[in-house]
Amino acid sequence: MSTISTTLQPFDLANEAGYQIWRAAKLANYPAAAADLLVRINDAAALTEREHAAILERCRKTNLAIYEVTGGGKTDKPVIRAFGRQFGLVTLDMNLRTDEDSITSLRVVETSAGTHYIPYTNRPLNWHTDGYYNRLDEQVRGIVMHCVSASASGGENMFLDPEIAYLLLRDENPDYIRALMQSDVMTIPANIEAGVELRSAQSGPVFSVAQDTGTLHMRYTARTRSIEWKDDRNTREAVGFLLELLASDSIYIIRHRLCAGQGIICNNVLHKREAFADDASSGQERLLYRARYHERIQGTY
Ligand SMILES: [Fe+2]
Repeated sequence: MSTISTTLQPFDLANEAGYQIWRAAKLANYPAAAADLLVRINDAAALTEREHAAILERCRKTNLAIYEVTGGGKTDKPVIRAFGRQFGLVTLDMNLRTDEDSITSLRVVETSAGTHYIPYTNRPLNWHTDGYYNRLDEQVRGIVMHCVSASASGGENMFLDPEIAYLLLRDENPDYIRALMQSDVMTIPANIEAGVELRSAQSGPVFSVAQDTGTLHMRYTARTRSIEWKDDRNTREAVGFLLELLASDSIYIIRHRLCAGQGIICNNVLHKREAFADDASSGQERLLYRARYHERIQGTY
């Protein structure tokens, strides 16, 4: 899959023949369920050749794999770092709320300056790719997210491969892709707290193609507040089409609720999260470790 994408340049709108070859390969035997993406591993810090190959194979096909640690060892933050390194994920993205070790602990935070960042609440989290507000030279291309403990109920994730989103949009109307590749199509206004600019406004494309690897990157949020779309007809229609796709029961949307000991590794695929409820008295409180990287998963291009 990935070598095809590099050599055929399928994301070039002028290259219809290359696109059709890539498209057929992409859709052939595309997994329909989360179970197809699940790989059991013994120790995330030291994968066997077979475990590594099984995860990589899934990431090459769908840009996403789900793993489950079945060995007895503790999967702490250094283990998550070591897990990512085995896939070439090295450079962690720094953000405002990252722990000192640059891996974020996602849990419900009752009162702090960070509470209006939805990942730290139990509310639903709408479709997005991570770091869409980052500078274009600091985009998040790879993610590892590990579930240490699950909530009492809810918290299911949904995932959609950006290459599939691209494919469905291009099949519908290539002008949609043209619109979403404009360098000023999506703008995130500056982040200002108490009169201090924490982040400047960030404009950029939804879809972009890495010059060195020919791989596709997607920058997207379904948020309607704090986001400005370019005001042209194709952009409006493309964004509407994408919203409808994400709200649909498309067979390409993978649903999975992470159990304790499970996690995902992905090339920053589209994702959303349902609301969840913790139960402190029974110890069922959701805690996830999330590592965001500037690299893509090695071997998926
Ligand atoms: Fe996210």
